Amino acid sequence: MKSDAFSSRIGVILAAAGGAVGLGNIWKFPYMLGQNGGGAFLLVYILCVAVFGVPLMMTEFMMGKRSGKSVFSAYESLVNNRHWNWLPFVTFFSTLLITGFYCVVTGWCICYLYYSCVGIFHNIDVNAANALFSGLAQNGWQSFACSAVAVACAAGILWVGVGKGIEQLSKILMPLLLVILLVLIVRVTMLEGAFRGVAFLFASDLSKITPRIILDAMGQCFYSLSIAMGALITYGAYMPKNQNVASTTLQIVVLDTLVAVLAGCAIFPAVFAYGFSPTEGPQLVFCVLPMVFDRMAGGMFFAALFFALLTIAAVTSAMSLIEMQTAFLYDWSRARTERRALAGNTDIPRSLSRHEAISISSLCSLLVAFVCAWSMSDAAPWLTWGGVNAFDWVDRLTSHITLPSIAFFTVLFFGWYVSRDVVVAEMRLYHGVKPWNILAYRFLIRWFIPIIILLIFLNGIGVISL
Ligand code: TRP
Repeated sequence: MKSDAFSSRIGVILAAAGGAVGLGNIWKFPYMLGQNGGGAFLLVYILCVAVFGVPLMMTEFMMGKRSGKSVFSAYESLVNNRHWNWLPFVTFFSTLLITGFYCVVTGWCICYLYYSCVGIFHNIDVNAANALFSGLAQNGWQSFACSAVAVACAAGILWVGVGKGIEQLSKILMPLLLVILLVLIVRVTMLEGAFRGVAFLFASDLSKITPRIILDAMGQCFYSLSIAMGALITYGAYMPKNQNVASTTLQIVVLDTLVAVLAGCAIFPAVFAYGFSPTEGPQLVFCVLPMVFDRMAGGMFFAALFFALLTIAAVTSAMSLIEMQTAFLYDWSRARTERRALAGNTDIPRSLSRHEAISISSLCSLLVAFVCAWSMSDAAPWLTWGGVNAFDWVDRLTSHITLPSIAFFTVLFFGWYVSRDVVVAEMRLYHGVKPWNILAYRFLIRWFIPIIILLIFLNGIGVISL
């Protein structure tokens, strides 16, 4: 995948940040914070970002940059054997599931952007807002059609190419997103009673912190920073060789956390000012906000602005998710062709072109999106197992099981299996990295992170109780 690389450092930062800043920040983070007691969750989340997020993101970037490969061959080429080749496949399937799920929610954002532009939120009350959302979510065809639009937008940008498509677009969209967010914040802080929302966001009651909150915050940290999905390895491979991974990571992490906190600052003051409950869950953005905007002067304009923001963030992330699968398929098919050729086979399969790889990954994502979208409709009860529909299964399976496991094995791989010299040599390239930073990093990825992930994981599945 070397033919098409990022042309500048800022391009990598913005593209990776464009991938990282997504529904996780603007849709998921505020509702999780609302459900988990506000400020206490924020505090735990920031701690998780510092101790798990930063080292894990650095690990993935370094793996991509050192090997110059996508997630498929990065493991193999770092250690020159194929013992770890199962891990990229697990990553690929986990990411595929997430992409399908993600495209469904992205589709809802696009649909809500349309709703806000045609003024559907006018005079909306609680029942109408709930009916509007469930009308969309439970209508299999509509929900699926919207996710197909989302996949088409994302795949269309990828079609144009990494340098021209992702990089150029991120350079425009990321600053635009920050501007929209700031405009919204200024608007909501002018509302009467807004400060109660701010207090909810920042007042930390330490007694509210439980193991459950830590598990949720960790899952959210992985999700929001796009960790354990191969996306960062893929981006690492596109980095210029002289890029400083340590400072790039810090910039992305700070930006991502900042956007999440700012999204909270835009949402909670408004929710409190109009007397709604912050603990609404996944519906917070889709059911509560239309009512909030309807009650605000100039609300329709700000509603359209907000859903445009959400759509931009979601589409750039959906695009990175599809890109990761594209790079995987492309490398996989090339490796297969090379292996057959080396073995002297006569019928060597042709390897996939980039455009073919994009088409296949988009179609696979659409298939998963189809299942997720239909599983919420009453018309498809066979997509619900044990009272939980496929959409929620995908969410739980990935954020509680596959993401922590992939992160766990990846740090074991990089901490114990890859030669120490490779890690040290790579980190020495970074200006400003001191010897003690390297020691601290290695301690974190060899001991601290694997042990803590294991404990939290065992606690989560009920084997031990913390
Ligand atoms: N981080 C994205 C968000 O906050 C979601 C996401 C998870 C993602 N993994 C990814 C995006 C991989 C791109 C690539 O919404």
